[in-house]
Amino acid sequence: MNRLLSLLTLFFLLASPLYADDAEEKTSLFTTPVFLQIPSETSIGAVWGVNGPAAGFVEYSTKEDLSDAKRVYACVPPLRSIQEKVLSVRIRGLEPNTKYYYRAATMSVDYPNAYHVKVGEPEFSAVHSFTTMGEKARSSFAVINDTHSEYDTVKAVHKKLKALQPPVVIWNGDAADQYKSEDKTVNSILNLTGRAIAENYAFLFVPGNHDYRGAWVRNLDTVLLTRNPEERDSKYWELGRNFAVRQGDVALIGLDSGESKLDDNPDLQGLAEFESYRELQTQWLKETLERPDIKSAPFIVAFCHIPLVIPRDDVVPGQSASYVWSRATSYQWGQLFSQHCVQAVITAHKHRYRCDEPTENRPWAHFVGGGKSPKTATVFHGTVEDDKLIIRVYRIEDDSIINEVKFSKRSF
Ligand SMILES: [Fe+2]
Ligand SMILES: [Fe+2]
Repeated sequence: MNRLLSLLTLFFLLASPLYADDAEEKTSLFTTPVFLQIPSETSIGAVWGVNGPAAGFVEYSTKEDLSDAKRVYACVPPLRSIQEKVLSVRIRGLEPNTKYYYRAATMSVDYPNAYHVKVGEPEFSAVHSFTTMGEKARSSFAVINDTHSEYDTVKAVHKKLKALQPPVVIWNGDAADQYKSEDKTVNSILNLTGRAIAENYAFLFVPGNHDYRGAWVRNLDTVLLTRNPEERDSKYWELGRNFAVRQGDVALIGLDSGESKLDDNPDLQGLAEFESYRELQTQWLKETLERPDIKSAPFIVAFCHIPLVIPRDDVVPGQSASYVWSRATSYQWGQLFSQHCVQAVITAHKHRYRCDEPTENRPWAHFVGGGKSPKTATVFHGTVEDDKLIIRVYRIEDDSIINEVKFSKRSF
């Protein structure tokens, strides 16, 4: 009798709707936290992993209760997206230097055929906030680089970012060794530590040479979005990774040094065109440095992954035979920085911190961030204090400041 009762209880438990609801709740449609990126004065991007097929949207408002929230769907017009692994939303039309609250939503989509499509109820993320960039925004930024999907390094640098709470973070390349599949990329970029890393501030991504490697890398822009095309003239539309944005008194300029191997390197098998890509960026940089909002900035800091300076007295930057990436480009970018009184260039790639003080021929300071292992990783923090731009470099291993450099306002 007891056995029969137990069997009956089990049957009713399995059959009851309550049990079914509980089971559904255990499988979230979100597989990662929201990752904010491509910030500008008036726009931002939000990307998150999903247990698809799924559709989704972001609601945002200046009010914390989202009572007058606007909704923007993940969409490639005219169709709203249905994705298996990752959704992205581009929010436009924002006010500069304004705090917005937001939440993301994911809905399951059942699409057996075009006449029986079913979209589930939205599952919402928690409410978070971000502040748009702009000339009146807080003059502050942080830089990380060469994390290479190393769990301990990513965890350590994000712990430091959490303590610093910068309004914007430059991820200066080599986020992973290579990009082999969508699953691996979503996990290693959006969710490596299982903790939110970019829910309350946004990332400006600068690709490194490794960010052009792997069988899946040609789809990377679904996880790490390219900049909105309206930010630049149509002749530069292919330059989706370049940015020039004011964050308070500082103009932040991102350049993409691309692969460290030349286009004719046998490893690339004739499948890359970085030389013309970098040349186009030189033209873009030339025009961008003349843009009123950039030209009027009291401080200009540029970022690219591969160093522009070789710390040897016997070689002129850009002319070393031992430096394999485009020598002409590094020379041209350096010349433009000198002509336009750029104060600092922050690079990466070497996995060992270095600072090259300005010289007579090179009036800008050149930094190389450390990286890959927690022992050599660094976090840069730039802030404007008493009319000076101060760049502090933190060694992650012991949280010590290994360098602090002050810059006066540009003379232009
Ligand atoms: Fe690297
Ligand atoms: Fe690199």
